[in-house]
Amino acid sequence: MLSQLFARKSVDVQKDHGLKRVLGPVELTLFGIGAIIGTGIFVLTGTAAAGSPGHLGAGPAIIISFIVTAVACGFAALCYAEFAAMVPASGSAYTYAYSSFGELVAWIIGWDLILEYAVGNIAVAIGWSGYLNSVFHHFGIHLPAWLTVDPMTANQLAGMSAEVAGAANISMDQVELAQQAIANAPNIGFPIIFNLPAVFIVLFVTALLVYGIKESARVNAGLVVLKLGLIALFLWFGLKYIDYETNWHTFAPNGWKGIMTGSALIFFAYIGFDAVSTTAEEAKNPQRDLPIGMIASLIICTVLYIAVAAVLTGMVPLGVLNNEKPVAAALNAVGENNVATLISLGAVLSITSVLVVMQMAQTRIFYVMSRDGLLPKFLSHVDPRFGTPMICTVLTGVVVAIPAALIDIGAAAELTNIGTLFAFVLVAGGVLMLRKLEPNKKRGFRVPFAQLVCPACILICLYLMFSLPGLTWIRFFVWMAIGAVVYFCYGFHHSKLHQENRALPNEYDQ
Ligand code: ALA
Repeated sequence: MLSQLFARKSVDVQKDHGLKRVLGPVELTLFGIGAIIGTGIFVLTGTAAAGSPGHLGAGPAIIISFIVTAVACGFAALCYAEFAAMVPASGSAYTYAYSSFGELVAWIIGWDLILEYAVGNIAVAIGWSGYLNSVFHHFGIHLPAWLTVDPMTANQLAGMSAEVAGAANISMDQVELAQQAIANAPNIGFPIIFNLPAVFIVLFVTALLVYGIKESARVNAGLVVLKLGLIALFLWFGLKYIDYETNWHTFAPNGWKGIMTGSALIFFAYIGFDAVSTTAEEAKNPQRDLPIGMIASLIICTVLYIAVAAVLTGMVPLGVLNNEKPVAAALNAVGENNVATLISLGAVLSITSVLVVMQMAQTRIFYVMSRDGLLPKFLSHVDPRFGTPMICTVLTGVVVAIPAALIDIGAAAELTNIGTLFAFVLVAGGVLMLRKLEPNKKRGFRVPFAQLVCPACILICLYLMFSLPGLTWIRFFVWMAIGAVVYFCYGFHHSKLHQENRALPNEYDQ
């Protein structure tokens, strides 16, 4: 039993399994940027800088928060790059853990990655829906309230007094919307309230991913160009209104503590570069191009994030940023209303590319886990017409769409952060482990100063994990416990590695 739990898959096992190899370094870098820039920068930056009743704001020092988180993610990206260049198989951290720690840890990380990609996409779809509604309002289109909000939020907000809402930085518009949703919802014994735009966008992205990886890459590339253009537009207009003397007068109102709380929050903005590594079997030259895709996309996004944070906090006082549309709000505050509307519209489109890449990453991880026998076999069936894992893609779409209709964004985003940080910890540990277990293996890319960089990555990620609320930790443990039950009821008995180890002792390492 123990030998199976710690059986490692060889880093050499790599065959083509029917996915199309069509992605080059540029497409992979664009995939990275597509996954990184989205809800984080367009939605979370404002509250991370200004603060909310639940957490201290970093103030203009949010720039330092962005740098701290970039360092943690940069270290993690180097670790992912070393693995990607050595184990060029789909499945990302799951596959790397299978080669370094063995089957049990691989399962744990595969299960954990559902928090990063599927739960992450739930949060992003809800954020997308919020931006879409605000653009609709601007053009005088009003969906019925009961189709724009989840029932949890509606019930929570509807009974709130003006005083309580004010103390929690919640506008009375949101409270009224929740009241309308409950009053007007069709009733079948209970009111039907759900987030229709969130469901719609998840199903749209699912259809795109079924259709083909090349088509998805093309749509993604277009959306990335658009989002880079939006950021350039914001910087161009924002720079004219910079007044550092006034707005940076108190640079770090809550000191180091505020800066670190800001870092834990905006970590969400950086998630996504690692999704590039899930496409190893669709990359033309994975050993060279995956490291390029991950590191290049992270560097580009870090520079843009710091520039946006510097301009945003320099052009308006913090109070203007304390809402879910800080970029548009800052432009409105300086009178650039048309640019603000353009940016909101662009944000809706560009957040779509995060959904495309994260959803694709999730399906590829399910696909590989199924191929390894840890999940049912039908999940790794590649549709011959489209060359994509169709059943797996559709099922993932449904699994993401249902909670996106019914739960609130905060819980989903925090679970995503804890799950991703945990994956980073294991990947950094895995690099050190594999250096010991396979010291002579050829590595197309090596983490520089690994003995320092990997432990530093682990420590910073653990620190950020401990900055998350206790409830998030409880949810995380419950999720992992469910995973353990699934593994011992199914994966343990169907593991292909286990079966092949008995039949073909030479193909895999013991
Ligand atoms: N980094 C992605 C975003 O901010 C998840 O939307």
